[in-house]
Amino acid sequence: VRDCIREEIRALTAYAVAPSEGLVKLDAMENPYLLPYDLQQELSAKLAALHFNRYPDPSPEALKSLLRKNMGIPNEASVVLGNGSDELIQMIMLAAARPGSVMLGVEPSFIMFRMIATFVGMRYESVTLNPDFTLSRDALLSAVTRHQPAVVFLAYPNNPTGNCFDAAILNELLDETTGLVVVDEAYFPFTDHSFLPQLMSRPNLLVMRTLSKLGLAGVRLGFLSGPPSIVEEIDKVRLPYNISAPDQLVATEVLSHAEVLRKQAHLIRQDRDELASMMSEISGVEVFSSEANFLLFRVNDARRVFDGLLHRGILVKDLSRAHPLLSGCLRVTVGTPDENQSFLSALRESAS
Ligand SMILES: Cc1ncc(COP(=O)(O)O)c(C=O)c1O
Repeated sequence: VRDCIREEIRALTAYAVAPSEGLVKLDAMENPYLLPYDLQQELSAKLAALHFNRYPDPSPEALKSLLRKNMGIPNEASVVLGNGSDELIQMIMLAAARPGSVMLGVEPSFIMFRMIATFVGMRYESVTLNPDFTLSRDALLSAVTRHQPAVVFLAYPNNPTGNCFDAAILNELLDETTGLVVVDEAYFPFTDHSFLPQLMSRPNLLVMRTLSKLGLAGVRLGFLSGPPSIVEEIDKVRLPYNISAPDQLVATEVLSHAEVLRKQAHLIRQDRDELASMMSEISGVEVFSSEANFLLFRVNDARRVFDGLLHRGILVKDLSRAHPLLSGCLRVTVGTPDENQSFLSALRESAS
């Protein structure tokens, strides 16, 4: 009976989430701050009054308007909501997957691009980044010529490397490819770079964002924005009622107080730079510069340092075997100042 499952699915390892109970959780790029108490109280009263017997609004326009206003989405662009941006990645690929069609990504990058391509039966091709994690223009453009991808996915800033690729190269890509180019801006709160302003001047550009890194990872909400003619087609593969009523309510309320999240993101950005500079003073630690809410760093013996941190109650992500370019690399999410201090002390002890 197992043969009923496609070989490529049987060959996959399910997306792994490490147990984190009792640990300082710095492995998943979450915002470490809670919502203010008043807002929590307001939310709990509104949640209690929800009509749980009814399906949610299938296309919540008030929430979309708030997103448009908060994110600066051009008026002429269309917006579709996803149950996290993971669902949007899946919707884009479902809409584009023909037998043999190619999804082009870069390596190392967000693992779900490759996994979802496999789920939907697209051929996954990738361009390996340079050892300093920059993107080679020539390698990218020749891969486009060779594979004629239906879709190119680029995380901007990239996960797990933390950098934004050269915008000039992405612009050339947009000129050269006849396929869709999806710029995944999951880490937009922590960088000044964005392709949103270019949306309507680029017929093949789609931009995705999520509220996850901004402070609402527990609310699964992302959006995809782009030219109406494309977004409306992608919207057809969206399952009905994909955003739950509690998620809609919480996102709408919190976005009405968006300054709370913006202030938290601002703090995280400052703390990231401070953390990076403190980490770089530790001998045996190489820190890569980041425009996201995490830092990638290289140590001599990643497994030993990971275990040393864990033993001291700190959970980070071990990426050292995820890709040859990441050998020796771990990734830490920026936490609260206290969490960052605990991490730094544990790193000093573990890396020595
Ligand atoms: C580049 C990138 N895109 C998308 C996601 C997933 O975001 P969401 O929580 O909205 O599904 C992540 C999560 O780590 C990510 O790093």
